[in-house]
Amino acid sequence: MRQPDLAAVLSDVRSGLIPAHVYNDPEIFALERERLFSQAWVFLAHESEIPAPGDYVVRRVLADSFIVARDEGGEVRVLFNMCLHRGMQVCRAEMGNASHFRCPYHAWTYRNDGRLVGLPFHAEAYGGEDGFARQGQALLAAPSMDRYNGLIFVSLDPGAPPLREFLGDFAFYLDFYTRQSPAGVELRGPQRWRIKANWKIGAENFAGDSYHTPHTHASVVDIGLFREPTASKRKEGALYTAGPGAGTTYKLPPGGDFASGLSYVGYPDAMIGAMAKAWSAGQRALVGDSGFMVSAATLFPTSASCTTGRRSTPPGPSSRSSRCASGSRSASGRPRCCPGSPWTPPRPRRSSATPTRPT
Ligand code: FES
Ligand SMILES: [Fe+2]
Repeated sequence: MRQPDLAAVLSDVRSGLIPAHVYNDPEIFALERERLFSQAWVFLAHESEIPAPGDYVVRRVLADSFIVARDEGGEVRVLFNMCLHRGMQVCRAEMGNASHFRCPYHAWTYRNDGRLVGLPFHAEAYGGEDGFARQGQALLAAPSMDRYNGLIFVSLDPGAPPLREFLGDFAFYLDFYTRQSPAGVELRGPQRWRIKANWKIGAENFAGDSYHTPHTHASVVDIGLFREPTASKRKEGALYTAGPGAGTTYKLPPGGDFASGLSYVGYPDAMIGAMAKAWSAGQRALVGDSGFMVSAATLFPTSASCTTGRRSTPPGPSSRSSRCASGSRSASGRPRCCPGSPWTPPRPRRSSATPTRPT
């Protein structure tokens, strides 16, 4: 495989120029797979998506499909969606509730904690337990899984550092999104958008592209959802970097306090009161004293947040589809960042349409 001239790429980036080919060069993407996505912590789901035993969602990292399930004991499991027999995807539904997953190929059946419990014709095909021990077999668990404030992440690296250690100083900013009330955050969705773009476009946008907001989001001003009369105001604020994350802030009006600042960006009084209880003194001071309020942010590489939602962009080279894997309810109860986005109906509950109990 031709190796890209990484020194030249780095030199261009350091001088403020991004070589266009980094967005669609297959060799660059191959290196990203090998060196980045084989190790990165990637956001998969939120605990509130699987509140009850048996609830599950199916998500992927690159080509690997994972079942994120709450087992019958209430424990969250992240399992490779891959049958131990011939590698078939055992769960074909995107979300639902099931006590077991039955492979559609030869019907090996697994409990929702991953244990293999059904193996048709075990005696005839394998000589029973002596020929092939069913006991102790289970769907493979993700190499590393960790959680923070209800967010469920995986890493393909079994030696990945603890998620909290990886988050470092960015946890301070992540808390603005994930600790908006003492009761926690409930994810509504997911809402999905399919975008023909490289994953880095989204990462860069949320990490610090205030430049686009007066133009791309001018319609928000036009229809009166933004408090200021001119869209150019949207570009004002500050950029920050913290550990593996970076983001943008709103610039709150001078002379205000915590409550008036949050009211200015559209939060209702009930949410402002909840935030005051949930956020630390340092977080409250950033808003009330310094006039900063987080807007959008990227947790490297593909997890992004805005004041109204979280996104996960499955990495892909240019021309592959990307998607928004989840969004949380906005303060106003509707998505503000992506008007016109489709609403996703509630997840089906336990039914015959989803992988089901063994017969
Ligand atoms: S591939 Fe799953 S049972 Fe054969
Ligand atoms: Fe935007």
